[in-house]
Amino acid sequence: MARPSFHILPFTADLLPAAGALLAGRCLGDRLTLPALPAHFEEPAVAKAAIQASLDRDHARGVAAVDGNQLLGYLVGDLVIDAVWGRSAWVRLAGCASTPNQSPELARDLYAALAEGWVGSGCFTHFALMPSTNLALLQAWYSLSFGIEQVYGLASLDQLDLSQPPASAGVEIRRAVSTDRAALASMYDLVWRANVAPPVWGLHLPENDAELRGAYGDLVDDPDATVWLAFLDGESAGFQCYFPGEHSADSLLVPDNCTVLEVAGTHPQARGKGIGAMLTHRGLAYAYANGYRHCLADWRNANLLASRFWPSQGFRPAAYRLARRVDPRIAWGNHNL
Ligand SMILES: CC(C)(COP(=O)(O)OP(=O)(O)OC[C@H]1O[C@@H](n2cnc3c(N)ncnc32)[C@H](O)[C@@H]1OP(=O)(O)O)[C@@H](O)C(=O)NCCC(=O)NCCS
Repeated sequence: MARPSFHILPFTADLLPAAGALLAGRCLGDRLTLPALPAHFEEPAVAKAAIQASLDRDHARGVAAVDGNQLLGYLVGDLVIDAVWGRSAWVRLAGCASTPNQSPELARDLYAALAEGWVGSGCFTHFALMPSTNLALLQAWYSLSFGIEQVYGLASLDQLDLSQPPASAGVEIRRAVSTDRAALASMYDLVWRANVAPPVWGLHLPENDAELRGAYGDLVDDPDATVWLAFLDGESAGFQCYFPGEHSADSLLVPDNCTVLEVAGTHPQARGKGIGAMLTHRGLAYAYANGYRHCLADWRNANLLASRFWPSQGFRPAAYRLARRVDPRIAWGNHNL
């Protein structure tokens, strides 16, 4: 693949129409591989609005590779500085596209140009949300020392056999009601305990415990939430919670009629007995009966239980959150004494 000559320049508003056309082309290619993805981002105007949404985020800036008057590719990222993410830099799903047949090497040049400013701002944790469908592009990011941290999976409900519920002796599944507040709140730790354990070692901030516990309890009275509870021999055993998928200018993973599986867990002593499969079947069959045709879920790739379970339930990776942590000593370890 020949690499044309190009210059890397700051991304400016006049490049948006051309960038929208590039992103629309990328989305078209992504959907050929994964038909569940939303179709409307293949409209250049819709794709342009998605890039604008990336640019509208706090501390956003971008770079563009230009050959003469032609835009070859662009990369847009923003900074998130808070207690959970620290000082971090993010490329969102609309933040990266290039001309068809462009060498994925271009993404590496664009990252070098854009991330120089991130490191200069003390942002050493870098995230890039990339479609799972473009293997050459993913390879380019892996070769920049990025790895898969989070998986975003879509299930197409039309393609699942939701007619036959799996059965497990002694298991009852039912919708949560207001009086289940305490039962649901008591399961607030199932997900984070799995995600702090090896080999995930994902951060849990203990100071947020009370708020998190309260938020779990509140789900029972949330009119948008559909919460399912599982009981094994009458004892609380697990839960799943679904919300309607929300559409926004840059929700590239939310097709029409999509529900989102937000949180799910089975008590450790009840795992591996088919309860998760029964909850998933009940949740997805109910969603299908209520007009939903897709379900979006996400999980830590290093969470062995989750990353084995969700694909077995019909979820197919649609995008990855790639992560790279630069050694912060580069702030001073870059010259002679
Ligand atoms: C992921 C999770 C929800 C799965 O729940 P579960 O109740 O254990 O699910 P199941 O028992 O239906 O299936 C788990 C595995 O046991 C197997 N299994 C199911 N019934 C079984 C049985 N009767 N005997 C032996 N194995 C069985 C399944 O095939 C499945 O294997 P797979 O994951 O390789 O596909 C659970 O492991 C969990 O709570 N993990 C911690 C919290 C978490 O990670 N939540 C998800 C965050 S995104």
